[in-house]
Amino acid sequence: MGQLLLIAGAVTAVLISWLWSFLFAFAVRPYLRAKRLRDQGVRGPINGSFWAGNMEEIQRMKMEARDMVLDINSHDHLARISPHFVRWASLYGRVFMYCVGRKPWLFVGDPELVKQVLSNKFGLYRKMEVGAGFTALLGKGLVLTEGEAWARHRRVVSPAFTIEKIKTMTRIMAECAQSMIENWREKEEVEVGVEFQELTADVISHTAFGSSYAAGKEVFSTQKELQTLIILASFSKFDLPISKYLPTEANRRRWGLEKKLRATLVSVIEKRMASSWSERQDLLGLMMEACVNGEDGKTKLSMDEIIDECKTFFFAGHETTSHLLTWTLFLLSTSQDWQRKLRQEVLLQCGRSIPHPDQLAKFKLMTAVLLEALRLYAPVGAIARTAREDAELGPSLTVPKGTDIIIPISVIHHSKEIWGPDAGEFNPGRFENGASKAASHPGAMLAFSTGPRGCVGQNFALMEAKTVLSMILQSFSFSLSPGYKHMPTERITLQPGEGMRVLLRPLEE
Ligand code: HEM
Repeated sequence: MGQLLLIAGAVTAVLISWLWSFLFAFAVRPYLRAKRLRDQGVRGPINGSFWAGNMEEIQRMKMEARDMVLDINSHDHLARISPHFVRWASLYGRVFMYCVGRKPWLFVGDPELVKQVLSNKFGLYRKMEVGAGFTALLGKGLVLTEGEAWARHRRVVSPAFTIEKIKTMTRIMAECAQSMIENWREKEEVEVGVEFQELTADVISHTAFGSSYAAGKEVFSTQKELQTLIILASFSKFDLPISKYLPTEANRRRWGLEKKLRATLVSVIEKRMASSWSERQDLLGLMMEACVNGEDGKTKLSMDEIIDECKTFFFAGHETTSHLLTWTLFLLSTSQDWQRKLRQEVLLQCGRSIPHPDQLAKFKLMTAVLLEALRLYAPVGAIARTAREDAELGPSLTVPKGTDIIIPISVIHHSKEIWGPDAGEFNPGRFENGASKAASHPGAMLAFSTGPRGCVGQNFALMEAKTVLSMILQSFSFSLSPGYKHMPTERITLQPGEGMRVLLRPLEE
């Protein structure tokens, strides 16, 4: 009897301690974090529910804005996509707090504070943890790794993205664009979103995988399917920690796709291992070189890490660039004047010939238009970090350890205080002296983020966009199809809600 009581007592103690840890992590710790922020004067909406925080309010505002169709000359998509941020920023300013479930999130919309977060050299802020779905999609590649592993990956990958290296890739970019344009010659109207998705996938397959690009295309289509499943799962109301292990139909489909993705990549890599070293000048080649020769340990990647890095490049590199091209075509369709100016710039520099990388570097107006497109329609609208330790931010705020921070790139890009009264207008002229001089703060342009974890593919994306855009401008004039509905929508990246059809008029040779 005594023994039974002893066991029951021990089980109860374990249960109580487990319950306390759970309660502490789930309710007490977030409450204490929120209290510390409030005690320092950080305001924010306080009418959230115990379980969902402000999520219900966010969902309600988003639902109300869901069917809003904007005028084609309005770039105010925040009213559609982030109505909660627009409302709260007008009430509480550039720094405020809201709750996602029990957790307080700190909204930091001040470029100086954003710089402090993103450029912190002591690793005070790490990337926020993402769900199992995204980890499956990206693996432990550059986007999701931290600390020493991230530094090692970045050291291996960076040499593939120097300007000199990218210049050698423009020939491939131009060949892919040429084949798309030839196709367009037989059409009067094209769905540019779809066209650019295919084009950028083609470019990344060629540049990352070289001669194995057909396998690259297979990786790409598998990843697309996985992405759709993951987005659908993220809307599920029953997303419990064990959900991902249950053999549901969606999970079985996901596991099958993950297996296929891995098998395709392993097969490409093994074929490469057996082939000649001279092929290894593409991105995959560079990583494999490091895998085999990086004996110093600082530049060594395992087979699994290479696989994850391949997944990362497909995910990070193609959709973002495709949307940049789509929104640029939208802006040039609604501003025929700028379309003419850019065509003139292209024809003056290189006539009807395929642009040389050195000529692309001289396209000042085109650079300004692309920056303005990235400002108004940033493909990545927000990024997030978590404070690893208590961290000083600005003159008077201490961010409690574990606080999630949201950096609202699009909100900062649309702020009149930062960009002036014409912040909502398409005015590429603001970039004539470069991005750092276009706003009241030199770091306000955040489309590629900034600091050590800024976008490694920035030069690649801009070079690709310039090559493709100049070749389109050489061949066609274009305008929006009358049926186009201006409904920018966020599906991980910012894209047209119902596609974008564009009318083409071939130019005289
Ligand atoms: C218009 C095109 C692009 C935009 C707007 C864009 C935007 C961004 C942003 C905002 C980040 C920071 C994410 C964060 O801190 O959470 C990022 C990181 C990254 N991007 Fe891009 N990107 C573009 C194109 C590309 C391309 C073409 C590639 C590769 C081929 C690429 C690869 C990456 C990688 C690997 C990272 C993670 C870097 C690190 O953490 O060290 N991106 N990008």
